[in-house]
Amino acid sequence: MSTSTTLPSPASKPLGEPLVKVGLVSLGCAKNLVDSEIMAGHLHKAGMALTPNADEADVMIVNTCSFIDAAKEESIGAILEANQNRGMRRRHQQQKLIVAGCMAQRFAGELKTSLPEVDAFIGLDQLTQIVPIIEGLLAKEREEEAEPENFVTPQPKFIPDFDTPRFRLTPAHTAYVKIAEGCNHPCSFCIIPQMRGRHRSRTVESIVAEARGLVAEGVKELNLISQDTTYFGMDRWEGKVGPRALVDSSRGDSLTYLLRELQKIEGDFWIRLLYTHPAHWSDELITTIAECPKVARYVDMPLQHISDPMLEAMRRETSSQHIRDLIKRIRAGVPGIALRTTFIAGFPGETVEDFETLLAFIEETRFERLGVFKYSQEEGTRAAKREGHLTSRTKEARWKKAMALQRRIALEQTAATVGRQIRVLVEAPGIARSEADAPDVDARVFVPENLPVGEFAQVTVIAAREYDLVGA
Ligand code: F3S
Repeated sequence: MSTSTTLPSPASKPLGEPLVKVGLVSLGCAKNLVDSEIMAGHLHKAGMALTPNADEADVMIVNTCSFIDAAKEESIGAILEANQNRGMRRRHQQQKLIVAGCMAQRFAGELKTSLPEVDAFIGLDQLTQIVPIIEGLLAKEREEEAEPENFVTPQPKFIPDFDTPRFRLTPAHTAYVKIAEGCNHPCSFCIIPQMRGRHRSRTVESIVAEARGLVAEGVKELNLISQDTTYFGMDRWEGKVGPRALVDSSRGDSLTYLLRELQKIEGDFWIRLLYTHPAHWSDELITTIAECPKVARYVDMPLQHISDPMLEAMRRETSSQHIRDLIKRIRAGVPGIALRTTFIAGFPGETVEDFETLLAFIEETRFERLGVFKYSQEEGTRAAKREGHLTSRTKEARWKKAMALQRRIALEQTAATVGRQIRVLVEAPGIARSEADAPDVDARVFVPENLPVGEFAQVTVIAAREYDLVGA
């Protein structure tokens, strides 16, 4: 996802004084978007302005993603495009180019040589330093042949607080709330812990203060994010916290306590849980969701596979039986909940039998929302070094088969919704989202154009259009 926006000019600036204008390209996931928002907040506070027009920017920032090869390519493409743009016009040749985000955090050392056109690389710990870094770059003439400056520090520790300057780049009615940063899980295919560091949770007080402020501003949907939202608070628990520790408020801060505190905030809004890990789900969490009506009947729980040999090879810390039991308990405990998950097709060593087991599981579980990724071999991961990598053709064929299966299930599910009354949040004239749809990743509900944007509405589903619904 790419984002660029313009900030209002700060009123405190004396008239006529030139502003520093900054272009910002935000790639990757919602966690990266929050980081972009933090940089934008610091720029705004310092009297700098964001501009959607790269031609008039004094500085371009590309906030990169490095999750899979395609994301890296997109990031490199955005950096090269920013550089090409400044080279094309003489007056922009002084424009500075900063590369931030996951790719910079992990690969700045190597990129310094391969991308000499970049002026500076910054990592997660430098998000709040963006203003002095920009001022430093603008104050000095870069010498020909000089290497890019590398501000990145290894093992980032940064975590935002409720008063961290932030300028939201999402629509006014929806916001991402980053409740923790980093990840302690050892998934063998994933490089994110190497970029984002160890798991560190914010305090409940800090998150509740931020949520209160957002609701007071009119936000109708708080999307709780982190690498693993179920691990929230566990990094501060006393004693040993194993890889399968269950969400348990008797041990200290936990997701359940956080949800109950957020539920107490007055107002009409959804709390949406994204990125949960099946290893940590407890009955306490299921009961809490059931008892907190503001928590959307929607849960995102990436499972990645269901065959035991694959779960083990992926180092998912869960078994097939655990996942199957958990899904039954979640559905029984929170009737009507929409389950969203993701799977990886074509992991190294995935046999025909493993894949057939996955298809059978998708068929019988009938997830309300499901995404399938083709395995991507990522340098620096354990999985990359495994034996038995499959050909691109096999990965593609398996991915297509899983997607086709889910498409049929999704069409049956949307058709079965016709005639039901549902609550939606209106996103734009004529377009809304239901409780079962997270921003950016899920389906839409087409609604009458006169429904007010940014408000909840009750509609009756009158038709289904593939994954989307039509409400009246
Ligand atoms: Fe990409 Fe970093 Fe997010 S690798 S998916 S931007 S955590």
